[in-house]
Amino acid sequence: MAHPKEERSLIILKPDCVMRGLLGQIIERFEKKGLKIIGLKMDNIGDVVIEEHYAHLKDRPFFAGIKRFMKSSPVVLMVVAGFRAVDAVRIIVGPTKSYIAPAGSIRGDFSMSTQTNIIHASDSIESATLEIKRFFKGDELFDYNRLDYQFVYGEDERA
Ligand code: PPS
Repeated sequence: MAHPKEERSLIILKPDCVMRGLLGQIIERFEKKGLKIIGLKMDNIGDVVIEEHYAHLKDRPFFAGIKRFMKSSPVVLMVVAGFRAVDAVRIIVGPTKSYIAPAGSIRGDFSMSTQTNIIHASDSIESATLEIKRFFKGDELFDYNRLDYQFVYGEDERA
C-alpha cells in the first residue's frame, strides 16, 4: 500500500442497484466524498463465493434467499481507499435495514429493504482485507493519487 494512512474498503453494488439503473448515482457519492476508487469491475458471483462471503449467515433462514438474489444479475465490485475509509463508507451506506436508514445515506435514500439494500460494504479493516482478496487479484487494483488529494485531506491525514 502506497499510503500508510490509507484504508481500503470492499463494496458490492448488488443486483437491485444494477437492475434499477442506480450504478452511476451510487458510485458518484463515493467520488464526491473524496474517496479514491482503486478497483472497479462487473462480475457474476457464484455459490462458492457467496457461501464464503456470507458464511456467518449460513444457518439463517434467509440464506437461500441471499444466494438467489446475489445471483439474479451481475454485480459491480469496487475497492475504495482513503484516510479512515472503512468508517466513512459505512456512514455513506447506512445501516443494513434500509427502512430505518437515515435520509442522506444510500440505503436511506434508495431502499426500503434488508435484502435488496443496494450495496454491501466491509464492516471493519480486517474484513475489508479478506473481502478485497476474495474479489480482486493484485493486478486489478491501481495505486495513484487523485488530483485533489491535498485538498480532500489535511496535512496530518496524508501520507
Ligand atoms: S446480522 O443479522 O447482523 O448478522 O446481519 P449483517 O451481518 O449485518 O448482514 C446481513 C446481510 O444479510 C443480508 N440479508 C438479510 N439480513 C437480514 N434479514 C434478511 N431477511 C436478509 N436478507 C438478506 C443483508 O442485506 C446483509 O447483507 P450485506 O451484504 O452484508 O449488507
